Order: sequence, then C-alpha cells, then structure tokens
Amino acid sequence: MTAALSHYLQEKIQLVEQNLLPALEREGVPPRLYESMAYSLAAGGKRLRPVLVLAVLEAFGKPLEWGMPYAVALEMIHTYSLIHDDLPAMDDDDLRRGKPTNHKVYGEATAILAGDALLTRAFAHIAEAYLQHPAVTAETTVKLIAELGLRAGATGMVGGQMADIEGEGRSLSLDELEYIHRHKTGDLLLAALLGGGYLAQATETQIAALAKYGTCIGLAFQIKDDILNVEGDAALMGKAVGSDEQRQKATYPALLGLQEAKDRLASLVAEAKSALVQAGIAAQSLTQLADYVKDRQK
Ligand code: IPE
Ligand code: IPE
Ligand code: MG
Ligand code: MG
Repeated sequence: MTAALSHYLQEKIQLVEQNLLPALEREGVPPRLYESMAYSLAAGGKRLRPVLVLAVLEAFGKPLEWGMPYAVALEMIHTYSLIHDDLPAMDDDDLRRGKPTNHKVYGEATAILAGDALLTRAFAHIAEAYLQHPAVTAETTVKLIAELGLRAGATGMVGGQMADIEGEGRSLSLDELEYIHRHKTGDLLLAALLGGGYLAQATETQIAALAKYGTCIGLAFQIKDDILNVEGDAALMGKAVGSDEQRQKATYPALLGLQEAKDRLASLVAEAKSALVQAGIAAQSLTQLADYVKDRQK
C-alpha cells in the first residue's frame, strides 16, 4: 500500500469510527444487547464501505459530513452480516476482526438479536439523521433507504448468502458462482457507491459510472477474499484461512485456479478504474481504493 493511501485510509477510518457507537441507541436497550452490538461494531475492520461513501463525496467536492449517516448505516449492516455469517448454522467461524466471533462471546441467541438490531438501527439512523439535515433532502433520504434495502435484502446480500449456503459441497458453474459473489459481497459495495452518488448530487451519467465501478470492485473484492482464504495470513486478516476448502465452498480459486482468479481480479479492477476515467470523474482516492481491493493483504 502506498504511503498516501495508508494516510488517506487512516484519516477516513478515524472519522467513521468516531461516528459509529454514538449512532447506536443506548437508553432503553437491554445492556447485554447493546454490549454485543457495540462489541462487533467497534471491533475494527477495514471500514471500506463507509470510506467509499466518503470518497465519492470528496470526488464531487461535497462535504464529507453529508455522507456520514449513510456511511455509518452501511457499516452497521455489514457488521450484522458478519455476525450472522459466522454463526454455527452458517460458516461456523470462531474468529472475526482479530477477536472471538460475536456468538462465541455472547452466545448464539444474543448474536442473532444483535444482528437484527444493527440491521434495523441502520435504517432508523439514516431517517433520523437526514430528517434534521439542512443539505440532504427528504427525496434523497428515501432513495438511500430504498437502495440500501434493495442491496441488503433478498435480491441482494441475503440472496447471495442463501445461494452461498446452498452451493456448499456442490460444483457450481461460473455464472452461479458470480451470482453468489455479486450479491453476498458486491451489493453492499455497490450500495456505497450509489448512495454516495445520490448524496453528492451526481448526474445520471456519473451515477452509471459509479455503478459500473461499484459492480466491478464488488465482485473483485470477493474474489480477493477467496484468494486470501487460500494464501493469506490468518494473523494479519484476523480470521481463519483455509476454511472455504474445509466447508467445500464455491470460490474463484476452487473453480478457476489461483492464477486465473488473480487475472480476473486484475481485469475487474482495471475495468472499474476505466469507468471513472470515461465519465470524467477524476478521483485519485477512488482509483487508489480500487487498487487496494486488489492488493490488500487483509
Ligand atoms: C468480509 O468483509 C466479508 C466479505 C463481505 C467478504 P471485509 O473484508 O470488508 O471485512 P472487515 O469489515 O474488514 O472486517
Ligand atoms: C461473507 O462472505 C459475506 C457476508 C458476510 C455477507 P464470506 O463468508 O466468504 O466472508 P468471510 O471470509 O467469512 O469474511
Ligand atoms: Mg459466508
Ligand atoms: Mg464467512
């Protein structure tokens, strides 16, 4: 990672993290539920989805603060998806973000409920925060909620998770595998780009370019996740490696081999960057973040 990108990420992550826990309700919440939600939300992670939202606003010269409620909501939904993904009924993982998984600490029932509560809080937070916001209109707010609901739901992330679980132990076609990756992982990244675009008041042409970029890095991100599960460093990543093979998951390296998976990753990242260039969106941060998806070691 370049020093410039590392500095950029540090700065943006810090900004996002300052806003995460304050966005949770506390009063009237059973303490164990709050602790479990806060445990996973504050556990760290790359914060890529919220950083992408801020990067879009920056690319369009708009105040980053406009994007914060949406960025925080996305991270809540992403965190809920990880808590549920790690449950024994799903991937049955013990380590996440370098810490014991939520259910290992709080038990399965609380982990399920913490996920439910993070998901619902995300939508309430968007509505509450933008309702009082001087620059973000009610129409934009409704568009954000619709987009996030679509991308997180049954035709989006949850649909991808269903297909992922049903694909265990089966041999899949490349189309079926791509469906899983585009939805289980790609859709929340796409939601970051589209939501950022709506907040930045991007034109339709610019939104289309952001969508293309988001779709490409969304798929690329999960291909890299598959690759890291084969050859990554568990200590660095803060989660298990080798688990996909163990659970007979459908992955790009399993289907295409490591080299072809890496080639596909590189071409998707190039495609993402060129979509921005073609639309005249000159944003060094978005270009660097696309490379980060390819080169990241965790
Ligand atoms: C992990 O996402 C799960 C996938 C969707 C591949 P991240 O790799 O973004 O996880 P954190 O947020 O950094 O922990
Ligand atoms: C996670 O996919 C996708 C979601 C949580 C929606 P994986 O199961 O492949 O990701 P990791 O490897 O556990 O982070
Ligand atoms: Mg999974
Ligand atoms: Mg998993």
